[in-house]
Amino acid sequence: MTPAGAPAHVAIIMDGNGRWASARGLPRFEGHRRGVEALRRTVRASIDLGIRYLTVFSFSSENWRRPPQEIGDLMGLLKRFIRNDLAQLHASGVRVRILGSRQRLSSEIDGLLTEAENLTRDNTGLTLVVAFNYGSRAEIVQAAQRLALEVAAGRLPPEAITEEAFSARLGTADIPDPDLVIRTSGEMRLSNFLMWQSAYSEFVFTPCLWPDFDRPALEAAIAEFHGRDRRYGGLSRAGAVSGAVS
Ligand code: FPP
Repeated sequence: MTPAGAPAHVAIIMDGNGRWASARGLPRFEGHRRGVEALRRTVRASIDLGIRYLTVFSFSSENWRRPPQEIGDLMGLLKRFIRNDLAQLHASGVRVRILGSRQRLSSEIDGLLTEAENLTRDNTGLTLVVAFNYGSRAEIVQAAQRLALEVAAGRLPPEAITEEAFSARLGTADIPDPDLVIRTSGEMRLSNFLMWQSAYSEFVFTPCLWPDFDRPALEAAIAEFHGRDRRYGGLSRAGAVSGAVS
């Protein structure tokens, strides 16, 4: 938790752009476009609320299964987001981090992502982690491969493979685990997002479709988070008194 009482790390599965658009007889692209506006609002609200890390699931490694037109639209929106918003993010002290594989991305996108990270690397405000071409299983497999290579090379004894050593080889190595994971649109699954990192996160599922998400919706999710009793496998405060197991 931050001194301001906000969770330090909020991660969001931004879902429901397509349904938002079809409910209005609009093309799916319009839902994604309005989704970028919701992302802008959420970044601003996160800064105001004192959140330290905001991670957003922008393109999953499974999203390549969508029609080429829609993939092109999402790539185009990412390019526009970086080109239009990077200077403002930088001026607001936001540090941009990219999580996910750079394979399959065009050199143009790869360059823009690197530019965003490099420009903002020394900023000390909100860290905006953009999960793009990200999949949690692939990230976990890659961490296992890194450990295996170090063991095979004799640089790491097998007994040194601890939870900390494993975490240190994930893409999120120096980012704290999310306190709160929000998924919009009423779906209740993790969809290959931060599976290792969310072991003790609180989950809030809201029916709100992502293009409608705004500061009050974020505050409502945080209020729900504050109502939870985080036990990390131990006893709740009430349980500790009554002797009940967690
Ligand atoms: C889910 O909606 C959302 C996505 C697949 C991508 C999220 C993308 C954005 C918010 C805009 C792009 C932002 C950046 C920075 C690239 P859905 O299409 O799965 O909605 P549906 O389940 O209603 O069809």
